Amino acid sequence: MSIMSKLFCRDDIGIDLGAANMRVWISGEGLVLEEPSAVALDITHEEVKEQGQQESKDSGKPREHRVLAIGAAAGDMLGKTPGSIVVIQPMKGGVICDYDITKKLLRYCFSHEKVKKARKGGFRRPRVVFAVPSGITEVEKRALEDAAQSAGAGDVFLIEAPMSAAIGAGLPVSEPEGCMLMDIGASETEMVVISLAGIVHSNVLRVGGNEMNSAIMTYLRDKYSLVIGEREAEDIKIKIGTACRPEKELEYEIKGIDATEGRKLVVKIDSKEIREEALAGLLGQLEDTLRGFITRIEPELAADLVENGIVLTGGGALLRGLGKYIAAATGLPVRVANDPAHATIEGCGVVIGELEYLSKAKRR
Ligand SMILES: Nc1ncnc2c1ncn2[C@@H]1O[C@H](COP(=O)(O)OP(=O)(O)OP(=O)(O)O)[C@@H](O)[C@H]1O
Ligand SMILES: [Mg+2]
Repeated sequence: MSIMSKLFCRDDIGIDLGAANMRVWISGEGLVLEEPSAVALDITHEEVKEQGQQESKDSGKPREHRVLAIGAAAGDMLGKTPGSIVVIQPMKGGVICDYDITKKLLRYCFSHEKVKKARKGGFRRPRVVFAVPSGITEVEKRALEDAAQSAGAGDVFLIEAPMSAAIGAGLPVSEPEGCMLMDIGASETEMVVISLAGIVHSNVLRVGGNEMNSAIMTYLRDKYSLVIGEREAEDIKIKIGTACRPEKELEYEIKGIDATEGRKLVVKIDSKEIREEALAGLLGQLEDTLRGFITRIEPELAADLVENGIVLTGGGALLRGLGKYIAAATGLPVRVANDPAHATIEGCGVVIGELEYLSKAKRR
């Protein structure tokens, strides 16, 4: 690439910073990075804040806990840390709980080898399309934009994550007809009705994959006095979690520790009890919220939904039989997106690739 073309070359980057996973898309390349959105801190050591971070007025040398790991390496530490280490996941329930940590994650994304390699190496700061939870405030949007710019972004465009997921799932979002999407992420479930490239109705339920894991942990502790970690609960959910009765119930053997006797305990569980005992309450909550949401939709749009149905995205949509469950609950046609966990970042990819969509993303 010549110096001149390098000067004018411009990379566009899409970022989906979720409660559990962060994903980075580079124009012309596709998905280049996917790691847990986590930062591990050593809380026994403080050091002077990195350059470029805002300095507090009352102290000349602001200090912060030492960063031990970011991304995949921090995710590996989840649930295994001694008291001196905390692993922070700064996006929770559609809210950015910690801006300094978010900045670190963004900087990590920008400086990651895979991202640098995928970028064409233009000298200009990349434009960034950021998928954000639909409920965030103007102040939070501004803070996120600042965080992205201090991490190396040029112009920042924000797009509501469910809109991005709908685009990624191939919904006809620009048409004058209602389409409905439900994104089941790690910390929340967002349901939206979209028409003419805008979100007409939205609702957020603070229930997602994390709560399903907690429900499995609570059930096993209460029923078998068996204590397991979040990873094991996640494994159980992925291997035998169901929302509807499968053709053949699935089984799982858990080796853990008896909470009262402190002895090794081996328990065989099956998908029926996980569905009917552990997850039933959360699935019921999801169903009730969804039905309440649908009742608030105007008749014209509701008529479209009867035709078009509901599309499910987010990693939680991978729970076996969830589409069937939602279809039975609502009587509407339901489709799980082809690659539900990646719909949001794929939508960012479409947006950065299409000026038509870019103009619809909110320019900050
Ligand atoms: N096969 C599966 N069955 C059930 N749940 C799954 C499966 N695979 C992944 N998940 C769940 O999907 C969730 C992650 O989904 P996703 O990556 O869409 O979340 P996120 O975007 O990080 O979170 P949020 O959208 O809430 O900010 C996790 O809770 C994970 O346990
Ligand atoms: Mg998400």
